[in-house]
Amino acid sequence: MLFKDKLILDKIPRHVAIIMDGNGRWAAQFGNERTFGHEHGVEAVRSVVEGASEVGVGYLTLYAFSTENWARPKEEVDALMGLLVQSISEETDELLKSNVRLRVIGDVKSLPQNVQEKLTWSIDKLNACSGLTLVLALSYSSKWEIVEAVKRIAEQVKSGEVDPSEIDYDLMNRFLNTSDMPDPELLIRTSGECRISNFLLWQIAYSELYFTPKLWPDFRKEDLFEAIYDFQNRERRFGKTSQQLES
Ligand code: IPE
Ligand code: IPE
Ligand code: MG
Repeated sequence: MLFKDKLILDKIPRHVAIIMDGNGRWAAQFGNERTFGHEHGVEAVRSVVEGASEVGVGYLTLYAFSTENWARPKEEVDALMGLLVQSISEETDELLKSNVRLRVIGDVKSLPQNVQEKLTWSIDKLNACSGLTLVLALSYSSKWEIVEAVKRIAEQVKSGEVDPSEIDYDLMNRFLNTSDMPDPELLIRTSGECRISNFLLWQIAYSELYFTPKLWPDFRKEDLFEAIYDFQNRERRFGKTSQQLES
């Protein structure tokens, strides 16, 4: 039986976040350059976006390029940026047909001009879509996001718009890049690494974490469904006891 058929449709997570990892190792298996892995990673993205739409996930956030990834060799960074522009150009029509909206989180202004323009073009084109929201984390890191939020809150305190006594979780949420999204209930990381790598630290405070050894270019929608199935079989206690949840 397929994992898709085992899913409880009224318990689908509203927001799934994925750390897409393992492209370089996938390419190395075939004696190829790392970029070959990134190119094949696009097929995994396509399948997962389709799968998320099919089962009614509301938000799918994909960690595509971290602040730390700027430290990679220039050729790899350039190849990734080129691939981003190419993929957005090629996939936007299909996203439109599938009613997928696009959003970006991260330090967008640090991206090359042509990447920024392509993103704006696609976001505008998909603006009226009302199905899945696909969120790309680009030049993103959680510590960066939190520091930016704190700076802006401090400005507002200084100008008298915010009183320090008003600073609470809700206010903090409003100043993050993810202000209009629910927190992810499920965070997936591929490639067997069991770390968070500066991704959504605030937002995953109570997320269920799912690690799979599969390398990103091999990941497909059925793997997403398997992760959601695993998620649906966990008990989320939020500090309470099992007995409390039963009653
Ligand atoms: C993930 O794959 C893609 C990005 C971080 C952009 P990697 O490029 O990190 O691949 P590995 O982890 O080296 O195999
Ligand atoms: C995390 O992957 C970032 C993205 C998937 C975009 P990395 O491969 O860069 O993470 P680390 O540095 O090995 O933790
Ligand atoms: Mg990696």
